[in-house]
Amino acid sequence: MTDRIMIAPSILSVNLGHLAHSLDDIKGADYVHIDVMDGHFTPNLTFGPEMVRACKGMTDLPLDVHLMITNPDETVPWYIEAGADLITVHYETVSHLNRVVNYIKACGVKAGVVLNPSTPVCMLENIIDDVDVVMLMSVNPGFSGQSFIEGTLPKLRALRELCGAHGVSPLIEVDGGISPATIERVVDAGANLLVAGSAVFGADDPAAMVEKLRTMGERAAASRGSLRA
Ligand code: DX5
Ligand code: ZN
Repeated sequence: MTDRIMIAPSILSVNLGHLAHSLDDIKGADYVHIDVMDGHFTPNLTFGPEMVRACKGMTDLPLDVHLMITNPDETVPWYIEAGADLITVHYETVSHLNRVVNYIKACGVKAGVVLNPSTPVCMLENIIDDVDVVMLMSVNPGFSGQSFIEGTLPKLRALRELCGAHGVSPLIEVDGGISPATIERVVDAGANLLVAGSAVFGADDPAAMVEKLRTMGERAAASRGSLRA
């Protein structure tokens, strides 16, 4: 069965003075991606739960909250209470991954685990059965507009194999450097939920860019395997 391809524009690339307008521009997308950074885990400081709450009041799209913070064990409830629909936590930051993932799910919110570019897929062996989403970082966390790291492609294939071996099919999300130049290879390698910041909000017509990325992704999903020929 061909995967449905979903696009999650990241508001890290938005001019916050026009946030409501920008959220309106992307109402054809599948999620709004909100990058929470704490200035400790990441060399950048961004949004907290109040931004999640504000977005909840401005869009009907589900909110994909990406926690790049050193203490998700303690603060995950803030983001659930603020209206997150999907919360992803970094493997590198969580002390009790099983507990956090199952807590998020017990609250009726989708739960995902994120791996940094240098964290291998095998670290998911004992959590893959429990997650709704796995997200692979294809840039180092911190900023929009960075170049896609090619090593993400073999990791995606390894992740698909791991999922197959466990008989599970979480959403496979990729974050960083997604654009018309990269989306086909990323989908071909197994992704079905694509975050895009600068590609969408840097475009003259963000709504058209969301459509373009989804169409390119769907085409790549339909012909998986042939891109490698
Ligand atoms: C990076 C963030 C990404 C970022 C993606 O740490 O997690 O979500 O906004 O931006 P682009 O798509 O411009 O690489
Ligand atoms: Zn992100």
